[in-house]
Amino acid sequence: MVMNGSNFHISRSVMNIHHHQQQLALLVVVVLLGLMMQSEAAVVRYNFVVQETNYTRLCSSKNILTVNGQYPGPTISARRGDTVIVHVVNQATQNITIHWHGVKLPRYPWSDGPEFITQCPIQPGSRFTQKIILSDEEGTLWWHAHSDWSRATVHGLLVVSPKTGTAFPFPKPHAEVPVILGDWWKNDIQTVMEDFMRRGGDPAPSDALTINGQPGDLYNCSRPQTTRVNVDRGKTYMLRMVNAAMNNIMFFAIADHDLIVVGTDGAYTKPLKTSYVAISPGQTIDALIVANQPRNHYYMAGKFYNSNPRSVFDNSTTTAVVQYNGNYTASPSPVFPLLPAFNDRNASANFTNSLRSLASKEHPIDVPMTITRKLLYTLSINTLPCASNTTCGGPRGNRFAASINNITFDAPRTSILGAYYRGMNGVYGDDFPDNPPFVFNYTSANLSTSLQTPMNGTEVKVLKYNDTVELVFQGTNVVSGVDHPMHLHGYSFYVVGSGFGNFDRQRDPLSYNLIDPPLQQTIAVPQNGWTAIRFRANNPGVWFMHCHFERHVSWGMEMVFIVRNGKRANERILPPPKDMPKC
Ligand code: C2O
Ligand code: CU
Repeated sequence: MVMNGSNFHISRSVMNIHHHQQQLALLVVVVLLGLMMQSEAAVVRYNFVVQETNYTRLCSSKNILTVNGQYPGPTISARRGDTVIVHVVNQATQNITIHWHGVKLPRYPWSDGPEFITQCPIQPGSRFTQKIILSDEEGTLWWHAHSDWSRATVHGLLVVSPKTGTAFPFPKPHAEVPVILGDWWKNDIQTVMEDFMRRGGDPAPSDALTINGQPGDLYNCSRPQTTRVNVDRGKTYMLRMVNAAMNNIMFFAIADHDLIVVGTDGAYTKPLKTSYVAISPGQTIDALIVANQPRNHYYMAGKFYNSNPRSVFDNSTTTAVVQYNGNYTASPSPVFPLLPAFNDRNASANFTNSLRSLASKEHPIDVPMTITRKLLYTLSINTLPCASNTTCGGPRGNRFAASINNITFDAPRTSILGAYYRGMNGVYGDDFPDNPPFVFNYTSANLSTSLQTPMNGTEVKVLKYNDTVELVFQGTNVVSGVDHPMHLHGYSFYVVGSGFGNFDRQRDPLSYNLIDPPLQQTIAVPQNGWTAIRFRANNPGVWFMHCHFERHVSWGMEMVFIVRNGKRANERILPPPKDMPKC
């Protein structure tokens, strides 16, 4: 990365030297250029110190968990194909793990991060060096804590730029602008989680939404710190967006400026011009904006989409200001964008359904066409009885639960990956069902309460190396139908179809997009609807799959794929590092 700059200097200083020296210098330039082209896989290093840091928002202070004292955390920058080494030191007083969201980590699940799935937590006072092997990811990704609810404040961008000597598939933007959407509780997040778990109901709603850690002008005590983005009229900017909020999909828009979406989840898309985006927790979006409006101040704004009329949620709006450079008098208050209504499920689904892969010669796609594993997984909210002599905050005094194929996942107290690698018995079972255990009208308005009770288990689905998988997520209306942003670790998948209602095995595959489906890692399954994804199981390991709503994860909406080794040496899991944390 540094080479670009130094090389530029060398070629300029060549000018004033004598002829034979010039030739020598030219040779040096040529050699340097050659090295630069070959520098395919740089190793980039970062130090992450997890610590408690005092922050004030909304006139109220608290200690939060941070990396290096920063909220949002530091941005990791690398190029396609690089390896990033992160030395994580836990100087806080609670356990933590760190996950590189969207990085496939080929053959190396050891650094993936989900607590008790691929590792034991990093305990206070200990350290873990994680190796983040990038492969074909290009664009914006992010990293976040993957234990308890710590990811509320422990998160940051992971930016993967094109390889040296290659370019974006669109004109290079003048500058890149991080847009990290999040939410903030005045209360300690660990306390919010523990209260929520104890009461068995919905979690306390957040007190503010944030852009780059700041609530913005519409909240108390926030105006002076509002995030500001300065732009030159006539220039193009690239927003590197992530929804790091805990429990809601978000709508986002900029007043009077279209967004041109060019990528999502670390893969390019066909340029999509839109007045708003719907972005799921976990999802990333790369979008261009052209500063082509009259010089003024314009709000960018984000708010929650919430499809469930029964749940309490934070209906406030976070803002940042896009302000044109130059000498002019701005209107007394910035222009405000139009956002869809908070419950507009069509606005959410329409945006999600309009993403297309670039599918070009430079950025080809590879959708599995023959399928060896057809899976249908129902996603349900459930209830469990409250402990005796207590009342819980869920429906009819019960406690909430959630499930995939009616199994509420129980995390073990040790790493599933460790147990699998060592052939240890008794940590997990391999009976995760390929289909729902019983068939009913999944999305019917009146479902019997007898459907509400799930089973508990720690079951995995074992896949053979190179299995081609079609997985249909079917949202159900058990207890109440909501959207579920489903996220798979270790893979990107093609989103080949989606719709409202029940998936129809005969009719719906006929309308699959097998030409240019988007390649994603997090996909919002619509409320009382279905989504079909395809992927090739060519990354051996233990890979978590879960809803990216934190409350649904806590209720058990998760499962694990184990992808077996292939026959060849380069199709096997690499050995673990020496410093894997112990339970
Ligand atoms: Cu963004 Cu399992 O994580
Ligand atoms: Cu969910």
